[in-house]
Amino acid sequence: MSVLSGKKVLLGVSGGIAAYKTASLVRLFIKAGAQVQVIMTPASKDFVTPLTLSTLSKNPVHSTFYNEEDDNAEWNNHVELGLWADIMLIAPATANTLSKMANGNCDNLLIATYLSAKCPVYFAPAMDLDMYKHPSSISSFTLLQRFGNIMIPAESGELASGLSGEGRMAEPENIITFLEKDLESKLPLRGKKILITAGPTYEAIDPVRFIGNHSSGKMGFDIAERAAELGASVMLISGPTHLNVKNSVIDLVRVTSAQEMYDACHLHYRNVDVAICAAAVADYKPKFVAEQKIKKADASLFIELEKTNDILASLGKMKKQQFLIGFALETENEIENAKLKIQKKNLDLIVLNSLQDEGAGFGKSTNKITFINKDFVVEPMDLKSKELVATDIMKKVISFYEMSTKSE
Ligand code: CTP
Repeated sequence: MSVLSGKKVLLGVSGGIAAYKTASLVRLFIKAGAQVQVIMTPASKDFVTPLTLSTLSKNPVHSTFYNEEDDNAEWNNHVELGLWADIMLIAPATANTLSKMANGNCDNLLIATYLSAKCPVYFAPAMDLDMYKHPSSISSFTLLQRFGNIMIPAESGELASGLSGEGRMAEPENIITFLEKDLESKLPLRGKKILITAGPTYEAIDPVRFIGNHSSGKMGFDIAERAAELGASVMLISGPTHLNVKNSVIDLVRVTSAQEMYDACHLHYRNVDVAICAAAVADYKPKFVAEQKIKKADASLFIELEKTNDILASLGKMKKQQFLIGFALETENEIENAKLKIQKKNLDLIVLNSLQDEGAGFGKSTNKITFINKDFVVEPMDLKSKELVATDIMKKVISFYEMSTKSE
């Protein structure tokens, strides 16, 4: 999955011949799963039509502050557009537009939006080779980069003038690759390895029956997706569930029993930076598994159970560099029981679910959690979708690493 997936991209098109390539550029953004809004300078409309770009972006194209021919015209809000965007890209960026950006010469919607944008801004210059080398252009590039904007260098080749040299706007495919690489390199969990457990476990009674629970696995899967989006390399060890991973970078290991989950976790735990145990692991399993299907011979049936290995507790015992997060599902004395689990299992953080809270627990799309850290700081959270709870959990992981970097 592209790092651009779900990103809101504001594309500013200025008036150079390379503007015709923005049709492909918009298509590639959409293909990568981004949402696109386009702002065109008046001059750029001579090179590509707003209809082309609105059709491809599936959004109206913005060009002027308001439509002078329409008496009921609405004001095109550059501040809103600037705040909407996750990234802004000016492509092609002509010498004129770059100079205006560098000097705050705000005479069109594109520049007003650029000045309002709080997101990262990229620019892909497009001009003739002598213009590209001119000290005035170089001064714009330098100033803009000093402002924190990111330049996507022009490429060499045949130019519209018939001359050949540096100045051609980077090809749309190369612009997309540049953006993806740059965004990936800035992801907060890049380089971190995260192990996550999810789902129920099934403990065999005989060849056709098992002891299981109602866990859907959704919480663990959502955590895995979020961790992968944030750049982590993720291993998801899941008990039986119908869910599948969306992000292909997630390494999904499917297991059935608590012992298989235990073995898979232990195989990988030493090398991970973070472990998050969200699985609803069976606490007990049948002591003996019948080789043949048990017949209903007697009026009652006694199945002797024995404890499973507590995976989380065993990881807590072995803990070195790992940031270890456990879950606790409680029905009474929630906070006190969760605190005991932090100590007993040597956790850094526990995510407490109380079944007394509406919207929390198994089989739901929402969750209501309370964070408790190893210093027993209790932080109740609002009822949220499991996707947003996953985001909150990953924020805790990110702030752990930010704090460790600060204290180094
Ligand atoms: N857990 C585990 N291995 C087990 C049992 C639980 O890794 N055999 C993990 C769960 O994934 C969860 C945490 O331990 O992160 C707490 O699970 P929970 O069921 O709330 O608590 P238990 O430790 O099983 O204790 P109890 O059922 O007595 O409350």
